Amino acid sequence: MPEDYEKISPTAVLVALMRARYTNMPYAAEIYSAVRQMTKPYFSKRPPSIFRRLFKFSPGTTGRLAYLEGRYLSLNEAVNKLDDSYTVIEIASGLSARGLERMSRPSVYIETDLPDMLATKQKVVQKILAEKSMAQSPKYHFYALNALDPIAWDELGRRFFGGNNSNIAVIHEGLAQYLTAEEKVKLRDSIAGFFDRYAAKGVWITTDFYAYEKMRKTWMLKFLDRRIEKKTSRKFHQFATLEEIVKFLEQGGFQASLQDCSFIFDRLTCVDKVPLDKSRVREVLRMYKICTAVYSQNHLGS
Ligand SMILES: C[S@@+](CC[C@H](N)C(=O)[O-])C[C@H]1O[C@@H](n2cnc3c(N)ncnc32)[C@H](O)[C@@H]1O
Repeated sequence: MPEDYEKISPTAVLVALMRARYTNMPYAAEIYSAVRQMTKPYFSKRPPSIFRRLFKFSPGTTGRLAYLEGRYLSLNEAVNKLDDSYTVIEIASGLSARGLERMSRPSVYIETDLPDMLATKQKVVQKILAEKSMAQSPKYHFYALNALDPIAWDELGRRFFGGNNSNIAVIHEGLAQYLTAEEKVKLRDSIAGFFDRYAAKGVWITTDFYAYEKMRKTWMLKFLDRRIEKKTSRKFHQFATLEEIVKFLEQGGFQASLQDCSFIFDRLTCVDKVPLDKSRVREVLRMYKICTAVYSQNHLGS
């Protein structure tokens, strides 16, 4: 197992910065302000230079901003369609506000990430809750998880799920593009193995799979991607076509449906706040997909 996944964690801070500065998403300002005050060595106290530079060239950022807000909202929509019997496990949750937002819902939510990132996130959440005189819901849990480690998945299963009778949704955004093709297989098979052992019904929902071939890649986005690749010591990897995504999921025992994210357009706050070109935003949202992949029980054993 490569040891370098932690190098991906600072990207969660970059995402938090963009949400705080260019959107009115819930808790975005509070989360970024809290994380900046924390003293983790790898978290920059100042906005990273890559972003300071990037936003001098706003045309190149339209797609990225629409994607960042659109993926969060469309993932929420898809998860909210599930009934409350589903326990939601978010992997690679970073500094997302979903746990805070879901506190009013009756279903169990387990927030997971790599240990250092998760510890930071837990402090961020506790700080925000204290400032707002709110108590953490007993259904909101934090759990350190390397999502590519099947043994860690099994430990999570034993900790939270006794038998094979729970409805479980595994969700994520902003992780898979950092993983190689082999690591994506490892992620898929870890989730499938976990569903086999612990889920009555299992569904995997993510905005991380889209047809990269179809993306319009401006020089600014290419520049940004190269900088992030350097920072994380990773090469971005994406599926080329939607057919490839469906096949990849079927091979792991999942039946996938992919919907484009344009339905979320009216709810994006970045469009007016920045402001962004509406037709370009619509075009971007049509390219990104929300993928709902239902697991066929006992696929691995059949
Ligand atoms: C781009 S950030 C996305 C964070 C969050 N989902 C969001 O949208 O704000 C990528 C996240 O992946 C996490 N990560 C990287 N490798 C991981 C792994 N093997 N298992 C779990 N999380 C991982 C990082 O710690 C980081 O929080």
